[in-house]
Amino acid sequence: MLPVGIDQISFYTSNYYLDLRTLATEQQTDPDKYYVGIGQEKMGMAAHDEDIVTMAANAAAPLFKDTESKKISTLMFATETGIDQSKSAGVYVHRLLDLDENCRVVELKQACYSATAAVQMACALVARQPETSVLVIASDIAKYELDTPGEATQGCGAVALLIKANPRILTIDPHVGNYTEDVMDFWRPNYRKTALVDGKYSTKIYLKSLKKSWEHFSQASSLSFSDFSYFCYHLPFSKMAQKAHRHLAKVNKSELETEVIDNQIQGSLLYNKLMGNSYAAALFIGFTSLIENKSEDLCGKKIGFFSYGSGCVAEFFSGSLVEGYQQHLFTQKHQSMLDAREEINYQRYLELYNTPDPKNGETVEIAEDTTGLFRLSAIANHKREYIAR
Ligand code: HMG
Repeated sequence: MLPVGIDQISFYTSNYYLDLRTLATEQQTDPDKYYVGIGQEKMGMAAHDEDIVTMAANAAAPLFKDTESKKISTLMFATETGIDQSKSAGVYVHRLLDLDENCRVVELKQACYSATAAVQMACALVARQPETSVLVIASDIAKYELDTPGEATQGCGAVALLIKANPRILTIDPHVGNYTEDVMDFWRPNYRKTALVDGKYSTKIYLKSLKKSWEHFSQASSLSFSDFSYFCYHLPFSKMAQKAHRHLAKVNKSELETEVIDNQIQGSLLYNKLMGNSYAAALFIGFTSLIENKSEDLCGKKIGFFSYGSGCVAEFFSGSLVEGYQQHLFTQKHQSMLDAREEINYQRYLELYNTPDPKNGETVEIAEDTTGLFRLSAIANHKREYIAR
């Protein structure tokens, strides 16, 4: 069977961020609670004319430099920030990126896990038709109630992955470990804009799911903990991954020094600390952070991935980096995008947080705000209007 996996990977986040020191000052909290306690520094805030569609199109645009590459068989859109109960957000992206009319489009949901489901389904489709490629996009805006413990873990971002046979970045192994349990740790009923969360409980379920999916993975795969050089975790905040990885090392009775264990995830945390939680996109932005920030050649190295979606569904899977992967990254583009972001004050944060949300078909023209390539220009007659800038 041909190797299948990630051929290209590109991510996008909004041009605004709130420094968590600013939030701490407003809340009269010690900033170290955020900088040290949860390991987060900044959180991305979407502009008024930005949503999961514009972020997704921005993330995927660099993958399509020629018309040939637009010939993908399927676009899978993973999100928990859905904008419509019926129409897939991916269909808007299909138009904005001028994709082939024979490309199928579908939206997937299971909290932060759905992008992993999409990647695995994409691998299966490509294994069946190796001449085709599948575009997976995960795009989310993490939003909690103001003045709740979750507030400091907001963020936004989108990641686009091209899944192909003989991939140029990562081959994904066929064996996986899964764990599903019906729990109420984090959820968002249809009538709410913000998630409901039992924060402490969610961190416990995250750790339990890691152990369970690792055990299942160990039954399916011949790989053991020591075969992995680096690990990428779902990143609600970076300290969660650090706790999880130490937990996994303990489960495996690893004799590695704590410093070595921490170093196995360090590179994957860098972008998340600056962007915050991007839900379904977070795991793969973490992977991008790892491969774009490690100066050593990771070719042939085994990477372990832990995907977690509240509710909950979890998966442990693995992959190997391909020789020459460095030549196919968008490192400069990503780092310039993060550097160019504008810091906002608390007042502006509240304005962006309270994005106008038209009801009952009223018309709203949305002023130009984002610096991205695409924007939401209006909502009129119950229809969202997207344009390229
Ligand atoms: P909290 O309860 O306010 O925080 O919020 P805390 O009091 O537990 O403090 C956090 C840490 O900071 C603690 O460290 C403190 O000791 C430390 P720990 O005991 O955990 O090691 N701390 C300090 N450190 C240094 N200097 C100080 C200081 N003060 C305190 N001055 C909570 C934490 C996670 C509950 C909150 O952020 C939350 O509710 N977040 C949202 C839920 C979440 O992210 N859960 C993670 C697992 S579930 C998941 O990942 C899925 C998700 O992405 C959704 C999806 O799947 O779609 C969320």
